[in-house]
Amino acid sequence: MLNIVVLVSGGGTNLQALINAQKNGEITGGRISCVISSNPNAYALERAKDDNIPTVVVSRKDYADNDSYSEALNAALNEVNADIIVLAGFMSILSKSLTDKYQYRILNVHPSLIPSFCGEGFYGLKVHEAVLACGVKVTGATVHFVNEVADAGAIIMQKAVDVKRSDSPETLQKRVMEEAEWQILPRALSLLCEGKIEIDDGRAYIIE
Ligand code: GAR
Repeated sequence: MLNIVVLVSGGGTNLQALINAQKNGEITGGRISCVISSNPNAYALERAKDDNIPTVVVSRKDYADNDSYSEALNAALNEVNADIIVLAGFMSILSKSLTDKYQYRILNVHPSLIPSFCGEGFYGLKVHEAVLACGVKVTGATVHFVNEVADAGAIIMQKAVDVKRSDSPETLQKRVMEEAEWQILPRALSLLCEGKIEIDDGRAYIIE
């Protein structure tokens, strides 16, 4: 059983999707052993506690930059023997030394179809605001491996969601979460734990 550590910063609905999938036996080959939050007030911490999952807070505010923050995270990840790391609404950028150490072992869920509406500055509701401002008709979510460049690691899975004329950033965010993020994140995590994701020339493929 691989040790899965989930990193969060906010509401934790993606964490909840992972917990639910685990309860339903949909995550094979791994177990969520710890939740680490960059925000001491994140509601995600309550979700973890409700399910008796140990929690750790490594507050982003206590560190001057991403490098020193990543060092502190590295220590926390060592402490809990992380095998696989999931960024589930985690709003800090990891240093290259950390992403190198866990190469192809860190997953992120992003609320758009990468390479659109992603990279630095595109996070949370801002992504959906940009989608609506642009007028695209299809958006969605992406699960990808994490490397040193924001939202640029190998793409594992994507799911499209239609944009409606009547959408607000909030309604679109909700639909992207329900129809895409909460579906593909647990699925991709399970495939990774089962060793069913192959890397070929820097691209990720699911072994059917
Ligand atoms: C989710 O939509 C997630 O994809 C996004 O923030 C939200 C967190 O919600 N992440 C990013 O934008 C990272 N670039 P949650 O805390 O309820 O899972």
